[in-house]
Amino acid sequence: MKYGRFVLVLPLLLVGCATEFPHDPPADYEELAASTILDAPSPVPGNFAPENRYQVERGEYLVELLGCGACHTEGALEGAPQSKMALAGSSTGIAWSNPLGDQYPGIVYPPNITPDKETGIGDWSDSQIGNAVRAGIGRHAGRRITVMPWQAYAKLNHEDAEAIVAYLRSVPPVRHEVPDEVVPGNKAKKPFVYFGVYRSR
Ligand code: HEC
Repeated sequence: MKYGRFVLVLPLLLVGCATEFPHDPPADYEELAASTILDAPSPVPGNFAPENRYQVERGEYLVELLGCGACHTEGALEGAPQSKMALAGSSTGIAWSNPLGDQYPGIVYPPNITPDKETGIGDWSDSQIGNAVRAGIGRHAGRRITVMPWQAYAKLNHEDAEAIVAYLRSVPPVRHEVPDEVVPGNKAKKPFVYFGVYRSR
């Protein structure tokens, strides 16, 4: 039996070495540094009560750990995050239907989650923010948030969810409007990515 396996495996290995793959995506793409996952912006002392410092710092830690800035920051999805625009939304979108299959996929643009009242979440209540993060209930009534991995945040406990909200309220408000979502079948005016860790050169 053992001998039989050798006979079978050896020719396969030889074939494997001799054949070149017709297309090797990693060779055509550049790998991005893990550091492109952003540092979250520092809280502004005047934006929270001193006794809430621990809560706000915990929120900052969680937002960094959970990678919120990797989507919600201009340039981050293309490996070139703009630190002044941290958490202020991205005008590069994310396709949520398959762009390799659909010519015009559905696209969402990660919104501005700084406390700017007009273009960010300054007017959202604590529970609206908490529901977006933990239950995928966003501004589009009637459907869940499609791209944000809220399922991975669903088990955040109440204390941690509150810390995230307190932190998001403490960062500098940035005025920045992201493009509207694109419904499948319509051509996007702004660029978008389909998830992966490589970008074309
Ligand atoms: C994979 C990318 C991605 C990550 C990571 C991510 N988000 Fe989002 N988020 C989005 C997108 C895209 C939307 C809008 C989705 C929609 O309308 O379908 C969104 C929506 C939201 C909203 C609702 C705001 C609005 O204006 O609609 C909040 C609040 C939010 N995210 C906070 C967070 C926080 C806090 C984290 C980290 C714990 C986080 N997000 C991580 C992509 C992401």
